[in-house]
Amino acid sequence: MNYTALIITVSDRCYSGQREDLSGPALAACLEKEGFSLLPPVLVPDEREQIQAALEAACEADAALVLTTGGTGFAPRDVTPEATLAVCEKLVPGIPEAMRAASMQITSRAMLSRAVAGIRGRTLMINLPGSPRAALENLEPVLPAILHGLRMLRGEGPADCAALQPQET
Ligand code: MTE
Repeated sequence: MNYTALIITVSDRCYSGQREDLSGPALAACLEKEGFSLLPPVLVPDEREQIQAALEAACEADAALVLTTGGTGFAPRDVTPEATLAVCEKLVPGIPEAMRAASMQITSRAMLSRAVAGIRGRTLMINLPGSPRAALENLEPVLPAILHGLRMLRGEGPADCAALQPQET
């Protein structure tokens, strides 16, 4: 199944042109390799209202998957998780739990990401850290399960997960 995805880069520095956005393109390349169709990327500053508006617009555009990159840490302006929580109808705590567990094998600083994941309508939203390397290290371990989740979310999966073939788990 070919799903639509949208990537939102959340960064004051990228938004002001002080820094090139490398995470958005890195995540886009990863998703394209998995067969996703990418909607035009979005770049917003670390402003809660603008992040929320971008997430809501992505749902309006019927993106199956929305990835945010940046703004999950401890800096005063890091508010991506709060903006995401404000627009989600259901939380999916297992995804950030799995991301942090996998990344803790790489760096203990993985615990500093406050990323959340949740569902609004038929859209799954996942926060990722801001550096390209960290964003990919968080996404890659959870991608196979995400694909199964999207099949269920979009009403295309088997009702019985136990009936899955091993390669689909
Ligand atoms: N996860 C992985 N895999 N690799 C990393 O280098 N950096 C951590 C964490 N997660 C990191 C990681 C650090 S140092 C921070 S502060 C948080 O992600 C939040 O990053 P953000 O503020 O760019 O969202």
